[in-house]
Amino acid sequence: MRKIIVINSKGGCGKTTLSTNLASYYAAHGWPTALFDYDPQDSAMRWLAQRPAELAPIHGVRAAHPPMPGMTRAFQLRVPPETRRTIIDTPASLKRMDLIDILRGASAIIVPVLPSIIDSAVTAAFLSELRAVMRSYAPDAPVAILANRVRRNTRTFLALMSFLDDLQMPPVTCLRDSQNYVNAASQGVGIHEMRRGVTRIDREQWQPLIDWLEAGTPDHHSRPEEEEKRYIA
Ligand SMILES: Nc1ncnc2c1ncn2[C@@H]1O[C@H](COP(=O)(O)OP(=O)(O)O)[C@@H](O)[C@H]1O
Ligand SMILES: [Mg+2]
Repeated sequence: MRKIIVINSKGGCGKTTLSTNLASYYAAHGWPTALFDYDPQDSAMRWLAQRPAELAPIHGVRAAHPPMPGMTRAFQLRVPPETRRTIIDTPASLKRMDLIDILRGASAIIVPVLPSIIDSAVTAAFLSELRAVMRSYAPDAPVAILANRVRRNTRTFLALMSFLDDLQMPPVTCLRDSQNYVNAASQGVGIHEMRRGVTRIDREQWQPLIDWLEAGTPDHHSRPEEEEKRYIA
């Protein structure tokens, strides 16, 4: 099982968008997938609640809330035994103990960042906190930065690239600002479950992220026979 964490203390940078699209990508490609929502705002769980019944199921875990009376935390956080990919959506602020819990056993960590001076500053501070906690609790997990809502020929984008250059962390991919993400969010789907014609560019932009996530794992080949079997109009 691979545990993929999407995290950044900056709100609105695309954590839920990435988490839900990743969960949808894996589910649509035939991987039994779980989606954890550590954000009390429940955006990922609301997305999941909208998911059309005919699409590949995703196991949701409302991790931001305490277990129901009589239930242990461990029981609340369990996933079906066949689960192969677990995606963790996180809130803007996390207590250190929660951060430690989330990071334990991480296979990969994705940090989305928007082209904005404020976001870069917050992300820089967050990355050093993350590194400090990772040293003890997830020393081997690779970290990727993802540039989100990018408009290429803008000064803010160039500023982001030079900021990431200074950090020696070039983005694993850049996702454009696209209404497809907004539509996907409101329909409980991901861009990989939408018509190819309208999502071609977005799919291409996702591929380096998927390649990075799946690199070096024996089961990294997607199951093309599962792909595109069902997608929404
Ligand atoms: N690449 C994108 N293109 C267009 N809209 C986006 C994109 N990424 C995120 N959004 C929108 O930006 C808002 C914030 O994104 P969200 O994923 O909720 O951020 P976070 O979970 O980090 O707070 C949402 O309304 C979402 O639909
Ligand atoms: Mg969110």
